[in-house]
Amino acid sequence: MSTYVILLGPPGAGKGTQALNLAEHTGLLHLATGDMFRENVRNQTELGQAAQRYMDRGELVPDELTISMLLDRLARDDAQLGSLLDGFPRTTEQAEALDAALAEQNAEIAATLLIDVSADEVLRRLGGRWSCPDCGAVFHEVFSPPQTEGACDRCSAALIQRDDDQPEAIQRRLDVYAQQTAPLIDYYQRSGKLRRVDGERGPDAVGADLLAALESAD
Ligand code: AP5
Ligand code: MG
Ligand code: ZN
Repeated sequence: MSTYVILLGPPGAGKGTQALNLAEHTGLLHLATGDMFRENVRNQTELGQAAQRYMDRGELVPDELTISMLLDRLARDDAQLGSLLDGFPRTTEQAEALDAALAEQNAEIAATLLIDVSADEVLRRLGGRWSCPDCGAVFHEVFSPPQTEGACDRCSAALIQRDDDQPEAIQRRLDVYAQQTAPLIDYYQRSGKLRRVDGERGPDAVGADLLAALESAD
């Protein structure tokens, strides 16, 4: 039986940070649509070129492109036992498309884990973020600095700052989250899948709560 878990929360909530930890504990494949789009942008694919102007403005890439990218990825061999979805779904259309695709394989969402964080905390976190373009690890200048400045602890690659971590794009991402993604909280609450975790504590405390929430959902 496959297991599908969704990580939901505003930009900067810690979805990527927690996904790496949860994937290690559960063995689930971590799929982050933001990372997938950024890889396409780096490789200058057609999809990357189409996605980039939305990402730079802090807006969502159109559902049509996002849904087909994610469902194609879920159909590959290494995703057959399920996955940990980070940053997808982000609209009601995406959630419905995912439900329909899983239903076709007699599968369903095991749990949606909401990482609750205020807008003020998001602004503090995204201002100082450094990301690894190779393995997806995430650091923060103050809250979780890498052991060697500018280098990834896990794979030594040079860390980068994301193009969309500029004040204007961060504000737009927060607005887009409130308008287009927050309705998914109700969507998953209605189906009894939602587990809410207080994200405004250290990463270890948040991680422990997420694991406990996931176990209680089984
Ligand atoms: P995406 O890459 O998903 O960005 P996001 O949702 O804005 O979320 P972030 O990655 O910014 O934050 P996070 O929650 O992962 O936090 P992190 O762990 O890094 O999407 C980017 C773009 O791609 C979108 O804007 C859109 O254009 C497009 N896109 C992607 N998916 C899409 C979809 N489904 N549909 C349409 N378009 C899509 O942590 C943030 C910082 O905080 C780090 O510095 C970290 O070290 C620090 N931190 C983490 N936890 C803590 C803690 N507990 N205490 C203190 N600091 C912490
Ligand atoms: Mg992320
Ligand atoms: Zn790395």
